[in-house]
Amino acid sequence: MDADRCRVVYEAMIVLGIETSCDETAAAVLADGAIRSDVVVSQDLIHGRYGGVVPELASRRHLEVVLPVVEQALSEAQVTLPSLDGIAVTRGPGLVGSLLVGLSVAKAFAYAHGLPLVGVNHLEGHIFAGLLAEPGLTYPFLALLVSGGHTALYACDEPLRYRLIGQTRDDAAGEAFDKVAKLLGLGYPGGPVVERTARVGDPRAIAFPMAQFQDGAPDFSFSGLKTAVSLYVRQHGPLSPSLMADICASFQATAVKMLVRQTIRAASRLGIRRILLTGGVAANRALREMLEVECAERGYAWSAPPGRLCTDNAAMIAAAGTARLAGGERADLTLNAQATLPLA
Ligand code: KG4
Ligand code: ZN
Repeated sequence: MDADRCRVVYEAMIVLGIETSCDETAAAVLADGAIRSDVVVSQDLIHGRYGGVVPELASRRHLEVVLPVVEQALSEAQVTLPSLDGIAVTRGPGLVGSLLVGLSVAKAFAYAHGLPLVGVNHLEGHIFAGLLAEPGLTYPFLALLVSGGHTALYACDEPLRYRLIGQTRDDAAGEAFDKVAKLLGLGYPGGPVVERTARVGDPRAIAFPMAQFQDGAPDFSFSGLKTAVSLYVRQHGPLSPSLMADICASFQATAVKMLVRQTIRAASRLGIRRILLTGGVAANRALREMLEVECAERGYAWSAPPGRLCTDNAAMIAAAGTARLAGGERADLTLNAQATLPLA
């Protein structure tokens, strides 16, 4: 494989990224592949009391904060709109009302200043978060993308080309963390709080079931696990703090085992020896530790972005957008939001 097909090379470009696909309003400026600013305004406090994202509230909040967020990203990066080489915006997948806010702003700025515009798939953004954090990461690699909305394995053979290898058959991994947190009354988002609670628990205390697939596909499933946790809670309530910690630790250990087992299986079947862990759930330390152990045993390399780049941000959108703009891709003003937008 020639050199430019095994590594992403960023052209000398200053690109503004805008991300509003779910409940984070984010803008970032990337200059020649380096993060100049990275602003994220989270809506966790708004959705927390509902135990999940309320789409109408999300789009309304994006509307309120998107312009100040973009202004802050530009001013922290010390650039002005006319000096940009392009604007990259998330076009899907996500909540349509939320996506439309970012898209409208990006289109308006691109039109007003005559700037190139490009639409980015949010999932590709998560993969670029890994590339941003680890510029030396070379293709091919296998990406385990684990977020609140998605859980999938993509073979990344060369820049901007993806093959779907496996995916969840029901809930996403992050969704399972969020649902378990909700049923334990721990708040939203569930991942970080379940991880914190699990720290003082015993991961072997409760044997929760892990889904097995007869067809051997490298897929995932979390709904049976979530139901098992729910039944256990119903049978053993009210819960003491130590039982709560054991439930979190045992749930987390089972979810992590499913993620790592299927990833390693897929990598060995495909003969790919590099793994990229990305998406919100990639911030989970138990997941990173287990992947480290399993990869070390087999001589596989693995990497994951730092926590801040694992969860939704616009630096990753600017990174993917830079690569697409450099390849000559341009969107016009008909660019629209797509709630379901496959990556491959
Ligand atoms: O990538 P992301 O910010 O948004 C989506 O694209 O979905 O991921 C958010 C998800 C939430 O479900 C959240 O609970 C989960 O990532 N998450 C975690 C952790 N931090 C965030 N899950 C497990 N452990 C964590 N430390
Ligand atoms: Zn995401």
